[in-house]
Amino acid sequence: MKGIILAGGAGTRLHPLTKVVSKQLLPVYDKPMIYYPLSVLMLAGIREILIISTPHDLPNFRQLFGDGSKLGLSFSYAEQPSPDGLAQAFMIGKDFIGNDNVCLVLGDNIFYGAGLKNLLDRSVKIVTEEGKAVVFGYYVDDPERYGVAEVDKKGNVISIEEKPKNPKSNFAVVGLYFYPNSVIGVAKSVVPSDRGELEITSVNEDYLKKSLLKLQTLSRGFAWLDTGTHEAMSEATEFVKAVEKRTSLKIACIEEISYLMKLISKEQLEHLIFEHGKSAYGDYLKKVLSQ
Ligand code: DAU
Repeated sequence: MKGIILAGGAGTRLHPLTKVVSKQLLPVYDKPMIYYPLSVLMLAGIREILIISTPHDLPNFRQLFGDGSKLGLSFSYAEQPSPDGLAQAFMIGKDFIGNDNVCLVLGDNIFYGAGLKNLLDRSVKIVTEEGKAVVFGYYVDDPERYGVAEVDKKGNVISIEEKPKNPKSNFAVVGLYFYPNSVIGVAKSVVPSDRGELEITSVNEDYLKKSLLKLQTLSRGFAWLDTGTHEAMSEATEFVKAVEKRTSLKIACIEEISYLMKLISKEQLEHLIFEHGKSAYGDYLKKVLSQ
């Protein structure tokens, strides 16, 4: 399975923070925001990753990750000239995806919770073995801000709507999507919505119509963090800080994940530690190495 991180967009809701720097490179406590969705792809066992961003911001992502080999990964990069919608990722990434299945994660979505790896493994399996698309529902108080899934008592999706005025449920569809290869064709057939975007919700509706959409709900123990406003950004930082302090473990430490998943050797981790210099982040990696 291939992975795509969509990290473009105008970022105007976070001005002036995002006037020069891409939203997905802003700090969430001790690391750039994009580390969080990247860690999700890594935990799902995905090694080939395409980062899509604006022509202006893409060079910065390239500078941050290079070809990915330092992390035992393979990175590709592609431009999205204008923010025409999430579903465009599959057209831009068509050649990168090739004949594989694909997971799309939004570069500004943060996930945290015990059992995340199991949930991701299960999703990959559903796509591979059943040929279904997998999306995730998370209970929120303000569903009108998101894609919303209406589910029956058995957990089957009945409808899915983008930012409905009158939401049929409180289940927001989060920014993490697993699809079979057919998504390239499905995305091609999507027409722009009233707000002029190629909506990911239209892609999901297509799979729903064909009875090929599976919704997994993120249970109470999970945190899905939004970073859409200054307030939400600050809360995300506070959350990560509190969890890392209490558990003495880092969330989304991509170097640690690479090492524990045996994507890099001890020597490679030592080199990364050297690169992080005298930072507390580097000190944490030293601890990982010594354990
Ligand atoms: O966060 C989950 C929500 O993300 C879903 O519940 C919605 O169904 C989905 O449409 C999306 O809604 P948002 O209104 O939050 O999407 P937004 O326009 O903020 O874009 C999400 C991220 O993707 C953001 O970091 C910018 C980036 N983006 C967005 C668009 C439209 C791109 O890179 N390219 C784009 O064309």
